[in-house]
Amino acid sequence: MSVEFDQSRLTVVDHPMVQHKLTIMRDVKTGSKQFRELVKELALFEGYEATRDFPLEDVEVTTPICTTTAKQIAGRKVAIIPILRAGLGMVDGMLELIPAARVGHVGMYRDEETHEPHEYYCKVPADIDQRTCLVVDPMLATGGSATAAIEYLRSQGVKDVRLLVLIAAPEGIKAVLDADPDVRVYTCSVDERLNENAYIVPGLGDAGDRIFGTK
Ligand code: PRP
Ligand code: URA
Repeated sequence: MSVEFDQSRLTVVDHPMVQHKLTIMRDVKTGSKQFRELVKELALFEGYEATRDFPLEDVEVTTPICTTTAKQIAGRKVAIIPILRAGLGMVDGMLELIPAARVGHVGMYRDEETHEPHEYYCKVPADIDQRTCLVVDPMLATGGSATAAIEYLRSQGVKDVRLLVLIAAPEGIKAVLDADPDVRVYTCSVDERLNENAYIVPGLGDAGDRIFGTK
């Protein structure tokens, strides 16, 4: 069954280094330490793509040779929003890229039977409506958790929301894009499908458990 969605709001980060690292993450033999390191690295790579359109301004800088005009980011305020828990694994990589970003947390867990998201914690910066929000979570499966997180941010007045995941199911991409007319989605892979337990196939299993070693 093919799933149709708006390709113009989807970016697949298909750089060879990204694909190589993702393959190591998929391997069932990869342990938590290496898995965590790879989640962090891929978050940083993906962050480059998700910030590609940030505007620049001219600034004067004196090098050891002369004074010149160079570029700097034109004062954009950013919040990184991990969806708990697995999204936490992407925060450090994002902060390496954008050290001045604030971090807000949205707690969601998926009911194991119904696969519906349940919100259990939300704490975001007071000026969240002034910020570009980079929502991070390694997995986009049914899209329920991401859709609920994005709805929460919209209810707080956020205008610019970008969702960064490492692996997405086509069904999840469609659900997120259909639910919000402006959100943009970044992923390192669009996998085949969901299985009967709403796990991504081939996927990498339960990202939270693999990051935190809980299974
Ligand atoms: C996982 C994952 C996403 C969600 C994706 O979290 O990190 O948040 O499932 O599934 P969905 O697109 O069908 O909503 P989980 O609920 O397992 O919680 P965890 O991060 O605490 O492990
Ligand atoms: N959450 C995960 O961690 N993995 C999946 O495949 C689906 C949801």
